[in-house]
Amino acid sequence: MTQFQKYFENNKANAIHKWVHYFDIYDFWFRKYKNKTLVILEIGVFQGGSLKMWRDYFGEDAKIFAIDINPLCKQFETTNTKIFIGSQEDKEFLKYLKSQIPKIDILIDDGGHTMNQQIVSFEELYEHINDDGLYLCEDLHTSYWDNYGGGYKNPKSFIEYSKNLIDSINAWHSRDSLLKINEFTKSAYALHYYDSILVVEKKLIKPPVSVMKGEIIIPIETFPSPNINPIKNTSPSMVKILRKRLIKILKTVYQKVFYTQLQKSILDAKNSKNGGVITLFEKKFYYHHGLAFYDTYKELFLNNIYEFKTNNPNPIILDCGANMGLSILFFSKKYPNAEIIAFEPDETVLPFLEKNIQSQNIKNVELIKKAVWTSETDLRFYTDSGLGGRLEMEYGEKIPTEVKTVRLKDFLHRSIDFLKIDIEGAEYEVLKDCEKLLFNVDKIFIEYHSIYNEEQHLDDILNILKRQGYRYHLKQSFSRQKPFLDYQNIVNEKFDMAINIFAYK
Ligand SMILES: C[S@@+](CC[C@H](N)C(=O)[O-])C[C@H]1O[C@@H](n2cnc3c(N)ncnc32)[C@H](O)[C@@H]1O
Repeated sequence: MTQFQKYFENNKANAIHKWVHYFDIYDFWFRKYKNKTLVILEIGVFQGGSLKMWRDYFGEDAKIFAIDINPLCKQFETTNTKIFIGSQEDKEFLKYLKSQIPKIDILIDDGGHTMNQQIVSFEELYEHINDDGLYLCEDLHTSYWDNYGGGYKNPKSFIEYSKNLIDSINAWHSRDSLLKINEFTKSAYALHYYDSILVVEKKLIKPPVSVMKGEIIIPIETFPSPNINPIKNTSPSMVKILRKRLIKILKTVYQKVFYTQLQKSILDAKNSKNGGVITLFEKKFYYHHGLAFYDTYKELFLNNIYEFKTNNPNPIILDCGANMGLSILFFSKKYPNAEIIAFEPDETVLPFLEKNIQSQNIKNVELIKKAVWTSETDLRFYTDSGLGGRLEMEYGEKIPTEVKTVRLKDFLHRSIDFLKIDIEGAEYEVLKDCEKLLFNVDKIFIEYHSIYNEEQHLDDILNILKRQGYRYHLKQSFSRQKPFLDYQNIVNEKFDMAINIFAYK
C-alpha cells in the first residue's frame, strides 16, 4: 500500500475526493520530490483534504498553492499553503496567478473538469511549469461525457486536444508545413496516459540525433528502403492512398478559401438590419434581417446548440417557429434522413422560408404555415417584420393579422426525437397543453420568454419537464445587464428575459 493510499484510508480530517487508482500514479511520479522544497499548484480545493495530503507527503518545505472558484475554500489557507480564488478558465486570473507564484514543479488539475477549463488552464499554465516539472490533468474521463463538453472523438474534448500534443512531440520529423516545431516540442519529454490522467513530463529537448556505430556486415542496399516514389511506385493501393491524400489537401485548401469568404459575408450580415442573400453550403440563403440571421447562424452552425444524438436512422423533428429556415437547414444537413415538420405563421417571413427551402433543396421538410397553439382556431398575430411575431399579445402600434393555428398536441401521438419550440411567448400555454403526451418526446428545446409585467412561467415549464422525467439545462438567451436596476429596460420588445431550455431524459 502506498503512503498516499494509507493516508487516504486513515483520513478523518477534511474530505479528499480522488479516484483510488490515482494513488499509485502519484506514488510513481511524486516519489522523487519527497521532502524537497518543491512548488505545487493544485486546481480544485473542494474540502481542502488533498492539500493536507500533499503537505503530509511532501513535508513542511513544500510550497503549496491552490486555486478554486469557490470563495469558501479560502478558509483552508495556512502560512505555507496559499489559496487563490478565481476560475481556472479565466485567462486574466491565471496570468495574475503566474505573477504571484514561483515556477511550479507539480501541477495537478483537479478542478471543474470541463473541456474548456482543462484546455485553458493547460494553455496558460504549462509554460509556468519548471523545465523538469510535471503537469497532471485529472479526470480525463469527462472527455467522453457530453455534459462536460466532451464526447467520444469530439474534437473539442481535452483528450482529442491532447492527441495533438503527440504530434507536437514528434514535430522534429515533420515534413508537413502544418506540423511545425513549437515550444511544446522543445520542452516536453513525454506524455503518459493513464485511465483518466495525463502526465506531461517536461524536460528541455534537443533536436533528435540518429547515429550508427560499429562495422557494417550486411550490405545496406540489401535492406528494403521505404522510399515510396509517388510517380514510379505502381502499387494500386499506394496510388489510392496518394489520391486520397491529394483530395484531402485540395479539400482543405478549398475549405480555407471558402470559409474566409463565408466568414466575411456573415460579418457583413451582422452589421446590417436589412435583408440580403448569402451562400451557405454552396447554395443561396435569403434573410430578411442581417443581425437576426447572424445571431441565429452563430447559435446553430457555430455553437451547434440543436445538435443531439439519436439511434433512430430516421429521426422525427418538430420545428415550431421555423422563421427564415436556418434551423430547418441545420436539421436537414445534420440529419439528412430526418422527417422535419416545420410550423411558421408569419407572413413577413414565410416568403424567405419558402425560398430557402427551395434554393437549399431541402427535401425532407413539411411546412405548415400555421402557428402552434392549444387548439385549431384563428388568432390575432402581431408581427415584427419577421423578427419574432407572436400570438394574442399586443405589440406596440402593430396591427395584427389573423393566422390559423394547429394544436401541437395533435402531432405528439407518435415518437418524436426532437421538439423545438421557439414561439415568442406562447410556449407555456402550448407545453401545458402537450404535457400528457411528452412521454413520446425524447429531446425538447424551448426558448422561454418572460413577458414584461406579466406572471412568469419559467418555474411552471420546468415543473412540467421535471414531472415528465426530463433533466434540464438552462442557457441565457437574452438577459439584462443589471437585473435589479434595469427592470424597465425591456430586453427584447415585450420581454424582460429569455432563457433557452434544453430538456432531455
Ligand atoms: C473535484 S473537486 C477538488 C477535489 C480536491 N482536489 C480533492 O482531492 O479533495 C473540484 C473543485 O474544483 C472547483 N472548481 C470548479 N470549477 C472551477 C473553476 N472554473 N475554477 C477553479 N475551480 C473550480 C470546485 O469548486 C471544487 O472545489
